Amino acid sequence: MNKKWWKEAVVYQIYPISFLDTNGDGKGDLLGIISRLDYLKDLGVDVIWICPIYKSPNHDNGYDISDYCDIMDEFGTMEEFDRLLREAHARGLKIMMDLVLNHTSDEHPWFIESRSSRDNPKRDFYIWRKGKDGHPPNNWESYFSGSVWEYDEKTGEYYLHLYSKHQPDLNWENQKVIDSMHEMVEWWLKKGVDGFRFDAIAHIVKAVGLPDGDNPDQLPTVRAYELFSNLENVHTLLSNLYERVLFHYDIMTVGETSGLGPEQALSYVGDTRNELNMVFQFEHMQLDAGSSGSGKWDIRPWNLLELKKVISGWQTVLHDKGWNANYWCNHDQPRSVSRFGDDQKYRVESAKMLATFLHTLEGTPYIYQGEEIGMTNIAFASIDDYRDVETLNYYEEQLDQGVPEEQVMQAIWKKSRDNARTPMQWTNGEHAGFTRGTPWIEVNSNYPLINVEDAIKDPNSIYHYYKKLIALRKQHEVIVYGEYKLLLPLDKELYVYTRTLEDQCLLVILNFFGGEPVLKLPAELVPEAKQLLISNYPIKGEEDLGNLKLRPYEARVYLMKTPPLDFVAQTW
Ligand code: NOJ
Repeated sequence: MNKKWWKEAVVYQIYPISFLDTNGDGKGDLLGIISRLDYLKDLGVDVIWICPIYKSPNHDNGYDISDYCDIMDEFGTMEEFDRLLREAHARGLKIMMDLVLNHTSDEHPWFIESRSSRDNPKRDFYIWRKGKDGHPPNNWESYFSGSVWEYDEKTGEYYLHLYSKHQPDLNWENQKVIDSMHEMVEWWLKKGVDGFRFDAIAHIVKAVGLPDGDNPDQLPTVRAYELFSNLENVHTLLSNLYERVLFHYDIMTVGETSGLGPEQALSYVGDTRNELNMVFQFEHMQLDAGSSGSGKWDIRPWNLLELKKVISGWQTVLHDKGWNANYWCNHDQPRSVSRFGDDQKYRVESAKMLATFLHTLEGTPYIYQGEEIGMTNIAFASIDDYRDVETLNYYEEQLDQGVPEEQVMQAIWKKSRDNARTPMQWTNGEHAGFTRGTPWIEVNSNYPLINVEDAIKDPNSIYHYYKKLIALRKQHEVIVYGEYKLLLPLDKELYVYTRTLEDQCLLVILNFFGGEPVLKLPAELVPEAKQLLISNYPIKGEEDLGNLKLRPYEARVYLMKTPPLDFVAQTW
């Protein structure tokens, strides 16, 4: 067992623009984060991951950086950042920065120079190509709709952007780019930050020659996916970054790497690799995405057997070899209780059940702001209320293709990133206590019911349940390091597993739906002396775990002695 502080930590993600506004401009800021450090400390988390706060024209809420070593005007100043770091550290909280190494803003001075002429020394900092007979250099499609190529009139060439046209991709084949990035990462480390989430890191290398994508098994939007994702040279660049810079600091790192399974992930996070501590995988996020052209927007119901298969794969393959980053939600995903729970009748029960899962898997749990109070998706009636560049581009593209608006809005209500980006609901007062100005995006109208102030007062709230789960993780090593084993793999409603560490065994029972299934555990797993660590319903008197009717979205975690039998779960 290879113990590390970041394995034992719980991470809380802040999307700064929507966290807390202190100057009345309707956008969250650094002073807002500082003023809630006590709240986070009290919740019990250890690390705060802050989405990009660097100077940015904000086409993609900070993921388009125009100066890596300065702070976005809307968020505050570098002095305020230094204060945030000091105050966090004084409370024993760590700060993880979100770094975008794949691309910059088109307003970054490097790009301004790069596009100024073909022979500018910075030209080769980005990926420029000539068109083919008036067409873009290849057929790759951007994540945010349309071609990845943007034609630049002035110099008569196209530049590549995997995301929006305001986010040109850097050319990592250029040693000067590599050196500049290393220098910048080190600059932040010297300031004392405690880690990085590396945005879109899987994409920093593109296939040699930038050939057309023609993978017929892929959706049109990602037909060329394997030509710009997880290529071998990404590992060379990451191990180089590790050896030259990261290795010298006791930090944590997590990479955003879509499109890989656990075996492939080991090449990033394997104990012997010296690249990253963990990666965010996307397999469970794709369980409700359809297979027709529009990928994530194409809604299909997810099913529990597939979820078990995906999660069990990551749990077993990475055990003792790497480490998982577990999450249900982030600023790019819909709200977890709306997506995987029931945000109406069983909002509280299902949010607690999902939280139980998040905290009792092997891996570091990542809580996304508002998840700890069960915040839900929104469904704005008009596209005018949406702000996300991906959503807006999708809307335009679909309408252009003749898709009825009603159908497009249905998809947006389910999958838009703005679901997770509405302001944090602090109180039941005006604008949920987020701002005294006009919020940059509408507050979810359910804030009188769902807000931090009321959640703190209610001992049965989702908030207090999170607090308890986080505290349990610190009390019981088995929750952090225990080996996962899936039970009842073919059960379509119940997700049951154990986590074992020497003589300690955790038994986790989760009813993932609103029915009342009966749990029939094998006799050897029905322990004599069992200790209930947490549950989301009151439990009265003696019960028989060999024959137990569960309530909707019920979750229970027992601690027991490791059963003497080496029980074997069926395969899925
Ligand atoms: C992934 C980030 O999480 C997302 O918000 C952003 O739009 C893209 N990378 C581009 O940086």
